[in-house]
Amino acid sequence: MISTRAVTTCRTLAAPNTTSTLLKACNATVVGFRSASVSPQQQQWTSRRGFTTTPTRNIKEFFPQTETRDIRETPPAWEHPIYAKDDMLKVQIAHRETRDWADKIALLAVKESELIISVLRTGLDIASGYRHASAKELAKLDPLTARQKYGMTERKYLIRNIFLESVAGVPGMVAGMMRHLHSMRRMKRDNGWMETLLEESYNERMHLLTFLKMAEPGWFMRLMVLGAQGVFFNAFFAAYILSPRICHRFVGYLEEEAVITYTREIEDIDNGTLPNWGKMQAPEIAVKYWNMPEGSRTMRDLLLYVRADEAKHREVNHTLGNLDQKNDPNPYASTYKDVNKPHPTKGIEHLQSTGWERKDVI
Ligand SMILES: [Fe+2]
Ligand SMILES: [Fe+2]
Repeated sequence: MISTRAVTTCRTLAAPNTTSTLLKACNATVVGFRSASVSPQQQQWTSRRGFTTTPTRNIKEFFPQTETRDIRETPPAWEHPIYAKDDMLKVQIAHRETRDWADKIALLAVKESELIISVLRTGLDIASGYRHASAKELAKLDPLTARQKYGMTERKYLIRNIFLESVAGVPGMVAGMMRHLHSMRRMKRDNGWMETLLEESYNERMHLLTFLKMAEPGWFMRLMVLGAQGVFFNAFFAAYILSPRICHRFVGYLEEEAVITYTREIEDIDNGTLPNWGKMQAPEIAVKYWNMPEGSRTMRDLLLYVRADEAKHREVNHTLGNLDQKNDPNPYASTYKDVNKPHPTKGIEHLQSTGWERKDVI
């Protein structure tokens, strides 16, 4: 992985296109953001795949693979399922309507009424300069000024994605850990939930590592991530003790938001407002992890994979939120008596945007 830190960074991603004072502060501190605006020929992300025009003294490897005498490679713990492009293109923004008080609590937690999430969201919006409500208001009155003031750039999206993904890897790990401990403590089977939950957190971390190949956060972002993780881990841990079902529903609603975010990014590439991403190739870590086929390795392709993953998390968590937490087997780690009937799988061929109902899968 070749980083064009320092010199090229300031010319590109850290370009002075920010409008808010807070984001200017962020610009001043997040100095490590690396270039994304190079030509397709220049744009290569690993030392093996490509090259950079940056002088050698300015090149730095960002979490390079450790070279040892005997080990050739350390493959991922969970192989990513193969996604067909047609299936990824079918992913839609969706919302599962609340049906009971537990759903309302979960949605409330996502929609600003829950204190911890509000702090996270506010921190995220401050860090990324993203103010959807204000942008919508201004867009009604003066669309051009709204675009200039609140329009998202590659840099703002990268900040948002890195922050989002650093938090998104927490719930699966906490839930998996809790079920692991519960199984041992109560001397009962877990019914296969743990694997799916840990795999989800692994997948979210791969999203983070992929975006980190494009930009290296400075101390301000690292501080935000540290704070958010400390608060969110403990809050989710406590919440999962009280009600795992609400927690899975909450994650389902959170993933609905993630699908919206990545859909916007894809649309912005398509409408030409993210010119650098429009001509970028995906980093090698992503090509390997998602098994991206030759000819479909652009930044847009990458975002299709990430969005499809988020849609899968949305489905999985809404489904888990529909189940008996103590007794039901995990539908995603099960084999079915009638294999011809559509049922939950690890892939996205039968994606259910609002989850599977219990009566259809158990
Ligand atoms: Fe993610
Ligand atoms: Fe997710």
